[in-house]
Amino acid sequence: MEEKKGKQPVTILVVYHSQSGNTRRMAEAVARGASEIEGVHVVLKKAFETTEKDLLSCNGLIIGSPEYFGYMAGAVKDLFDRTYEKLRGHKRIFRKPYCVFISAGNDGQGALNHIERICVGYQFRKVQPPVVARGEISEEILRRCEELGKTLAAGCEAGIF
Ligand SMILES: Cc1cc2nc3c(=O)[nH]c(=O)nc-3n(C[C@H](O)[C@H](O)[C@H](O)COP(=O)(O)O)c2cc1C
Repeated sequence: MEEKKGKQPVTILVVYHSQSGNTRRMAEAVARGASEIEGVHVVLKKAFETTEKDLLSCNGLIIGSPEYFGYMAGAVKDLFDRTYEKLRGHKRIFRKPYCVFISAGNDGQGALNHIERICVGYQFRKVQPPVVARGEISEEILRRCEELGKTLAAGCEAGIF
């Protein structure tokens, strides 16, 4: 008789870049929120250290970037550059749930729009609106980041996303 297997843990990848710590604080809050959900394993990684294997093996991902020169951080773009050709069209990437958080001095739209456009190319599926911090990272922003992580993790764990 076949042995009954336990439910595999759901893995949420929180990938980010940060120079002066603002996006890192947001990433840590996102990871904290996601880890509140039982049965969820959270992987918090810097973009430069993230590989195609991380993107393949997660059940959902949350991408965080500061806005630099009206664009995403070079490190986040580097992750896309390194993995896009290998992963495009891969069945374990298709419609993978994702969401974004941005830290910027202004409205962050440059970084956000470019990330979202590239994610359309991967055929990731946006499941939550972004959190965009303008200027200092407030307690309210951190609360919204925690909520973002928790919502993505809960949705993936429940099989809704
Ligand atoms: C090199 C550089 C370029 C930046 N360019 C922009 C920009 O184009 N628009 C903007 O709103 N903020 C810009 N900023 C401000 C950062 O987005 C903001 O300080 C952010 O919180 C930095 O995040 P970090 O602490 O995670 O590195 C820039 C900052 C740096 C260091």
